[in-house]
Amino acid sequence: MSSVEIYSEAVDAMQGHLAAAAICIAVLLSTWMLFRKIHRFNKKLEKLPPGPRPWPIIGHLHMIGKLPHRNLALLSQRYGPLMSLRLGSVPTVIVSSAEMAQQFLKTHDHVFSSRPAMRCAKNMFYDSIDVTFAPYGHYWRLARRICVSELLSPKRLESFRFQREEEVSVITIRSLLEECATVSNPVVDVTKTVSAVVVDILCRMTFGRKYSDNEGYDSRGFRAMIPQVSSLLGAFDIGDFIPYLEWMDLQGFGRQEKEIHKRADGFYEKLIEDHLVQKGSQETRDFVDVLLSVYENSTPEVNLGRDSLKSLLMDMLHAGTDTTSTALEWAMSELLKRPLVMKKAQEELEKVVGLNRKVRESDLPHLPYLQAVVKETLRLYPPAPLMVPHESMDSCTVSDYEIPARTRIIINAWAIGRDPTSWEDAEEFKPERFMGRSVDVRGQDFELLPFGSGRRGCPGIQLAMVVVEFVLGQLLHCFDWRLPDGIQGPDLDMSEKFGISSRRAVALLAVPTPRLPAQAPEPQCS
Ligand code: HEM
Repeated sequence: MSSVEIYSEAVDAMQGHLAAAAICIAVLLSTWMLFRKIHRFNKKLEKLPPGPRPWPIIGHLHMIGKLPHRNLALLSQRYGPLMSLRLGSVPTVIVSSAEMAQQFLKTHDHVFSSRPAMRCAKNMFYDSIDVTFAPYGHYWRLARRICVSELLSPKRLESFRFQREEEVSVITIRSLLEECATVSNPVVDVTKTVSAVVVDILCRMTFGRKYSDNEGYDSRGFRAMIPQVSSLLGAFDIGDFIPYLEWMDLQGFGRQEKEIHKRADGFYEKLIEDHLVQKGSQETRDFVDVLLSVYENSTPEVNLGRDSLKSLLMDMLHAGTDTTSTALEWAMSELLKRPLVMKKAQEELEKVVGLNRKVRESDLPHLPYLQAVVKETLRLYPPAPLMVPHESMDSCTVSDYEIPARTRIIINAWAIGRDPTSWEDAEEFKPERFMGRSVDVRGQDFELLPFGSGRRGCPGIQLAMVVVEFVLGQLLHCFDWRLPDGIQGPDLDMSEKFGISSRRAVALLAVPTPRLPAQAPEPQCS
């Protein structure tokens, strides 16, 4: 063998060794990187709040069940008031105590004030351009400011007092009295009665009229849409959590939402057209008029499109009606189960208002027991038990846990209201617990959060509280109520169905008997 051949063989062998070494190094490097990644991922998981082990692909979706607030509360008893779940591919944190809620809604409110993208809001609320589902930012701030100042401010609420008193004290009470006069011991559908009065009040305030008026306004089944929208907004849509399955619309929600949107859009278009035709001829400006003037006088800073108008109108109606009537039907359910509590509320009304006239809104501040009944109802039955989901805009450390950006935050107001560490006899309906105590529902006391708190807290609290207290007060003052023959208090079916508001599963039926002299004067509506 020549020296040249020996040299080239040696070079070949060296190249072979080099290649083998390179492969080894590459394998070692990638193994090291993989381990580092796994280690980092595990470290990240270690920093998340505790939670059960997820299933592949669906994560914890199978644990949500039909009554998510109850199932999540049970899970939290095991894993703690801050619990991590993975819903499909969506990292989620469940908050179930007053202390933790304060961390999310007060201490770190600026991080957790956005909303996750949800298909139901995209389909029904014109791509989430309402207040409730809009992500945090300039548009949400503008839309919320308009709704608060033009519809929900104390001054605006006072200007609609006449409509509220007329709907409650005149129209609703008159129709109940008529039923009592025509049938002895009539069985009244309380659920239907309170829903109707709340919807009519909200419609008069926002649209300037009731859509149940006899002019074809409800020909599109508009009234029936309200509970449908509520149940779709509360549903856990698989497409939101496993995005590559969205197109299949496995639960059929997408199809229903689009169908509802089409009907609702027709209604709002007609409403806007009617307002444009009648422009200036109405005595009082309703919310549609206000939105139209913002729309017509748009500036680069204050700019609403026509879809925004429709979306905001729809938002006010849906955020305000089902929630308020849910509170009323649970309050009446508890009172029908507990005649002594009802009696105590009636005695207070008798003392403050007397039996010669009906209740006025101005009486409400003088009725502390009635207020306690309403608070106790909102503690045990927060109408939106899981509120509306929040989303983190950045990563944030809460109680030594690391919550990554874009985590969905679910605050379980239902579990917080029944937390035995905050409430004695937490499962008992006892309005007395609020007598002489300053605990309030307005978002300052985190053990009682029916309206949320902080930037995304409910802007309709004042309206909601007036309507609930006023309707309940009037029903109790004008009538004695009892359950239909054959049903005893303890037997009353108290099962619930889940939606964004958690209503009674079956309608509440009861028998009213008039209490006031027939000619008790109507309140002075001015
Ligand atoms: C008893 C009745 C009501 C209850 C229990 C209730 C409860 C709530 C809750 C829990 C939230 C979510 C808070 C959060 O995410 O932190 C909310 C948001 C909201 N509520 Fe209410 N609400 C009621 C009545 C009303 C009324 C009468 C209106 C207006 C007509 C209204 C308008 C809104 C709006 C617009 C939002 C979205 C706020 C935002 O995202 O910035 N609500 N409400």
